[in-house]
Amino acid sequence: MKSLILLGCGGNAYDVLDIVDAINALRPTWNIAGFLDDGREVESRFLGHVILGRVENARQFAEAMFLNTIGSDRSFRRRPELIAATGLPRAQFATLIHPGALVSCRAQLGSGVYVCGGASIAGAVTLGDHVSIGANATIGHDSQLGDYTVVGPAAVVSGFVTVGEGCYLGAASAIKQQLSIGAGALVGMAASVTRDIAAGAVVVGNPARPLAPIIHN
Ligand SMILES: CC(C)(COP(=O)(O)OP(=O)(O)OC[C@H]1O[C@@H](n2cnc3c(N)ncnc32)[C@H](O)[C@@H]1OP(=O)(O)O)[C@@H](O)C(=O)NCCC(=O)NCCS
Repeated sequence: MKSLILLGCGGNAYDVLDIVDAINALRPTWNIAGFLDDGREVESRFLGHVILGRVENARQFAEAMFLNTIGSDRSFRRRPELIAATGLPRAQFATLIHPGALVSCRAQLGSGVYVCGGASIAGAVTLGDHVSIGANATIGHDSQLGDYTVVGPAAVVSGFVTVGEGCYLGAASAIKQQLSIGAGALVGMAASVTRDIAAGAVVVGNPARPLAPIIHN
């Protein structure tokens, strides 16, 4: 059994624990060593597992693998700095695929990725590092998702779509084929995207339109 430490005590941790349970039911593989979370007391518990320390303590656990679960529509922009704060090498992040997901052998997944049950990842898809794919989401052939991007449950990314780094695609959103979603953009739940989306934009509705001014870094 390999030790796995999860970053963040939020809702996505439920998904990752379910993935671990489903993998272990087929072949005992992962032992959850605990969580790192800056907002919780060390040695307190979350979902039956111990809080081992803060994110910056990650390097103390040299034998463990890690996976980030932080990434809501409010926190997703912090993912790069959070991963950086661990000081961990890329190779120390695990990639977990729920056995009930359909992942093409012609897809490429980075490290620190997780794919929930019912999701479908088609051929020639590239998922960058630390990408999260929610339950029942579909990523169409030849699409590329940049590092840190979060795909919500039941979102549909059609074929030949380019999604930049650090985007958030809300639950049940849909992206038309061959479009580009700029880095850091947020697509609201159930939005229907029919045009390219600018970096940092927040879009909602059908067809999707900007909700708030574009964020310039
Ligand atoms: C787009 C989003 C980030 C906006 O959140 P927010 O900044 O807190 O916005 P508010 O809830 O204050 O809503 C602002 C306005 O936008 C509207 N709105 C918000 N989200 C919307 C959406 N997805 N589609 C259409 N309209 C939306 C609200 O109705 C409100 O309109 P009003 O001013 O006319 O009343 C959020 O609603 C959203 O869609 N997040 C993704 C949720 C998701 O996918 N969760 C999956 C969890 S696994």
